[in-house]
Amino acid sequence: MKTNKSKISTICCIGAGYVGGPTMAVLADKCPDIKVYVVDKNKERINAWNNSNLEKLPVYEPKLKDVIKRARDRNLFFSENVKKYIGLADMIFLSVNTPTKVKGIGSGQASDLKWIEACARDVAKWANGHTIIVEKSTIPVRTAETIKIILESDQVNKSKKTFAVLSNPEFLAEGSAVNDLENPDRVLIGGDDDHSIKSLSEIYNRWVHREKIIKTNLWSSELSKLIANAFLAQRVSSINSISALCEKTGADINQVSDAIGSDTRIGSKFLKAGPGFGGSCFKKDILNLVYLCNHFGLPEVANYWDNVISINNWQQKRISQIIVNKLFGTLTDKKIVILGFSFKADTNDTRESPAIYIAKDLLEEGANLIIHDPKVNQKQIELELGNDLNCSSKDKNIFEETKKQNYWKFSNNIENAIENADAVVIITNWSEYKNLNWNKLYEKMRKPAWIFDTRSLINIKEFKDIGINIWQIGT
Ligand code: NAD
Ligand code: UGA
Repeated sequence: MKTNKSKISTICCIGAGYVGGPTMAVLADKCPDIKVYVVDKNKERINAWNNSNLEKLPVYEPKLKDVIKRARDRNLFFSENVKKYIGLADMIFLSVNTPTKVKGIGSGQASDLKWIEACARDVAKWANGHTIIVEKSTIPVRTAETIKIILESDQVNKSKKTFAVLSNPEFLAEGSAVNDLENPDRVLIGGDDDHSIKSLSEIYNRWVHREKIIKTNLWSSELSKLIANAFLAQRVSSINSISALCEKTGADINQVSDAIGSDTRIGSKFLKAGPGFGGSCFKKDILNLVYLCNHFGLPEVANYWDNVISINNWQQKRISQIIVNKLFGTLTDKKIVILGFSFKADTNDTRESPAIYIAKDLLEEGANLIIHDPKVNQKQIELELGNDLNCSSKDKNIFEETKKQNYWKFSNNIENAIENADAVVIITNWSEYKNLNWNKLYEKMRKPAWIFDTRSLINIKEFKDIGINIWQIGT
């Protein structure tokens, strides 16, 4: 039987996704004396984490392969056996998905907590002795209350099992996850049980300075995670809204960003205009915040944050419209190359990527798309766009014989993809798109050819002489 000890020797993390995998890999790397078991009911994902070919890990992150190589099978293990490792653990991280509800009360806004609840029930059933439960997933404020109720509902075994619940939200950003985990700005621990807080902070303290470990009550910690994402997303929407004003006035968004960002009160980060924020969290976390504000009778606060999402949707639509307008109002039979499908550089994650929305708009307008991405594969793009590009079934019946179908194709060779293209749209800020040889590429395009640079990646001054048409965000 485990005792209520502060020294943790076995950790289980439920959820081997973008957070669970990298977070536990770094923890195991930094604490070789702690056994770390990452469990998931998704067999394919677990197999991928166990793949001896490190190129095939389910998550692409710079430096992750090295961490996995050092820790895996030493004190880091990936398994489908959720029951076994819950039973062995002194501390259990809940790192499962918390997406927006798609039906029922709060549909389209509230977080769906069914995966969190399922984990709490599994833990209640299979844990032994004293176990510290750590909320790693992003969840609505006061979720710990629900978790505690479920954990304490087993009256029969009450004396044999005890639990403490902590909140320890994750602030890593994809593409820099390993760096963020190894050198976090802060680690946030919320809770009311000093003993458990000490156990968790001692783990982080192996590589994070004590001053960076912030301790709060449970509710402040849960809420701070939502608010951190809301503030970051708000900056992106703010600068994107100004990018449109720059385009009308002759101001340059990059110059404006530099000018305002050098004020230390404003700061320079998260002021890069682009095609709108993507990723699995900003939108869902703000929607959740909006839901919570309405729930607590604060519609003005809810509306304020809702506008951050409205501007984001508007920015994505605005870019699609600009492309259609510049290409003479029609994309039918035109070939457009999309550079980048992940939601940002250095990740293979496509969730909520602006590329999905822009690609769908362009297909709807009749364009043929060739999509390139250094890390996203064709199968993943198929999941996002579908591979049946027929128009609606009504159109199909009427025009079956005459309708020529437009399509998207995947290519891993930019030079081939660009042959006879009418336009190139840079959507993801992959560094390899910065230094393409446009003199050479432009020759291969059908004239008049356009480049739409939604990330201000290319140096516009270099192209003045070759006569290429360039539209760049915020200029
Ligand atoms: P994800 O979808 O990549 O991974 C979640 C995993 O949990 C999946 O593999 C799923 O199979 C597994 N799972 C769900 N229910 C389970 C159960 N009952 N038992 C076993 N396994 C189960 O999600 P993610 O991107 O890792 O995000 C996880 C949480 O972390 C979310 O709340 C998210 O908001 C938060 N977060 C994400 C990021 C990020 O960069 N992705 C950063 C900070 C916080
Ligand atoms: C974000 C937060 O940065 C993390 O702290 C948080 O842990 C995470 O969400 C989460 O909770 O999931 P992430 O979405 O991985 O991380 O990546 P970001 O770097 O924040 O970028 C989000 C989106 O905003 C991307 O589409 C990015 O291209 C865009 N962005 C970001 C801009 O358009 N401009 C900027 O200046 C910054």
